[in-house]
Amino acid sequence: MDEFVWQDAYRIDNETIDAEHRHLFDLANRVIHFRASGERLGSVRQAVIALYNYIKTHFAHEEACMAQAAYPGLPAHRVLHEAIIYEMNEILRGSTEIDVLVYKLKRLMQSWVIDHIQEADRQIGDFLRQRPPTAAPVSGADN
Ligand SMILES: [Fe+2]
Repeated sequence: MDEFVWQDAYRIDNETIDAEHRHLFDLANRVIHFRASGERLGSVRQAVIALYNYIKTHFAHEEACMAQAAYPGLPAHRVLHEAIIYEMNEILRGSTEIDVLVYKLKRLMQSWVIDHIQEADRQIGDFLRQRPPTAAPVSGADN
C-alpha cells in the first residue's frame, strides 16, 4: 500500500507550517503502516484519530498565523479547514471496515495535499513572506 511521500513542491516556504505539514504526512503514513501490518480496526482507528487531532491543532495554529498577519483570506481559508474536519468526521463515523477507512483517508489526504497545501496554503506562505507576522495585534481588530 503506497505511503505518502513528501516533496519539495509541497513546501510553502514557511518553516513552522512546512514542519507541521510533514508531521501530518508521518501520521497519515502511520495509518497506512498499521493497515499493512495487519493491525485491527481499533488500532487503525486510533491512528486516524491521532491524525485528526493533529490536523485540528495544525489548522488552529495556521489560522492564528493568518490572524496575526491580518491575512485577508482567513475567513475563506477557515471554511476550507472546516470542510476537511467535517470530511474526517464523516470518515471516522461511517467507516466500519479497515479497508474503507484507509481508502477514504487516503483519498482525503491526496486531495488535501494537492488542493489545499499547494494552493490555499501556498498563498499564506507567499503572504507571510511579504508581511511577516508581528507580536502585536492589529489595532482595532475585533477577531
Ligand atoms: Fe490550511
